[in-house]
Amino acid sequence: MPGLGSTSLRSKHVRLIAVAYFVSAAGCSTGTPNSGGSAGESGVGGAPGGGAAAASGSADASGPSDSVAQKYAGDFPIGAAIGGWHLDNLSAILERDFNHLTCENAMKTAPIHPAEGTFDWAEADRIADYARAHGMKLTGHTLLWHQQTPAWMFAGVTAGDASSLELLKSRLKTHIEAVMDRYADVVDNWDVVNEAISDDPKKIYRDASEMSKWYELFGSEEYVYWAYRYAHDALEAKSAGSSRGKLYYNEYTVTLKVDKILTMFDWLKNARGIQVHGVGFQSHESLRWPGTSDLQSAFDKFAAAGYQVKISELDVTVYDDYSTGTFVPSPVVVLTPELEATQARRFQSLFDLYRQNKGLITSVTFWGISDDRSWLNNAPVPGRADYPLLYNAAHAPKQARGAIMNF
Ligand code: G3I
Repeated sequence: MPGLGSTSLRSKHVRLIAVAYFVSAAGCSTGTPNSGGSAGESGVGGAPGGGAAAASGSADASGPSDSVAQKYAGDFPIGAAIGGWHLDNLSAILERDFNHLTCENAMKTAPIHPAEGTFDWAEADRIADYARAHGMKLTGHTLLWHQQTPAWMFAGVTAGDASSLELLKSRLKTHIEAVMDRYADVVDNWDVVNEAISDDPKKIYRDASEMSKWYELFGSEEYVYWAYRYAHDALEAKSAGSSRGKLYYNEYTVTLKVDKILTMFDWLKNARGIQVHGVGFQSHESLRWPGTSDLQSAFDKFAAAGYQVKISELDVTVYDDYSTGTFVPSPVVVLTPELEATQARRFQSLFDLYRQNKGLITSVTFWGISDDRSWLNNAPVPGRADYPLLYNAAHAPKQARGAIMNF
């Protein structure tokens, strides 16, 4: 973001992002549902922005005839993070513009495995069946995260107690095997572990001070190994070689964590015999940060080390809460045509970069479809409408959609 030239200021900025992100996203309610939305993915519906004629989500919408997914067919799949609401309300847009899916929440541990031995497959099944019916693949998001892990997973487990750690490992193994067994046919890449790297430049791994119960109970990053071991073995048990190319790690602000992620990958490969195949750049970007040159050098480092890259949670916020290097919530903005044009240019420059790296990038997934249903309407400032996606709150295409189609 502007004014973050110095490393110390930038790393302070990242820590603040992390603090604000955790304070606002971890388990907090997702704010007031927008018109017709439900609690969860929704936020406060943003004021409809500019953009082409409205394209409602209904199946008979006369929205744009072109398709983002088809435009990029020679580059990489175009994905969207969705819930059941999107299948009910935005199916025409989903079918036209996307050919890859992620469950925004349904496949996470707490929603899908709410109690030990009790699974709630319903929403993930709906999305997986939709993908199967439409020839799409899914990202398996996510098998282990420090957030949205249900309390039962850690119940009765004491840090440093070998037998209770074995209990935790067996619970994790059971969870991973159950989810992978059910969706291995439709998932082409798994976020086996999400956000295990610290935001603190002085630490490699997220620990208890950064809300990781996993690190706290294992007393180290060893839990990361077990997640990948169980995931690898679960796929190999279904068919030999089927884990190849599917074991990913997912993270935010990757441009500031490249070396730490590569250190973790080296440890998994050389000390634990686990080959991770790729890294997800979540890509919750702002209008100016990170710069495309920083992204390119991060891409280059992973490519040089033999890893694939995916853009896993793309959105571009219109706010700049850290312009001074400290977290100061920007006041609510209206999405003017001028601001929408600035955002469109940012999306265009990002997609120019992605296309220049199409051999390395295995998919580009938006973290949602329309502004009214973005997590950013509730993080880092609950209830503050944001406008981070390709479609506005009226489900009409924004200038950003036209911009990424223009090549
Ligand atoms: O399902 C319950 C619902 O029953 C209840 O009425 C409601 C009350 O607020 O909460 C609902 O759970 C919400 C859940 O989304 C499902 O809708 C949680 O409160 C809410 O915290 C949760 O937010 C999700 C967040 O992850 C959790 O940290 C966001 O929708 C989701 O977009 C966000 O996604 C994460 C990625 O998985 C990982 N990368 C960062 C990204 C943004 O935080």
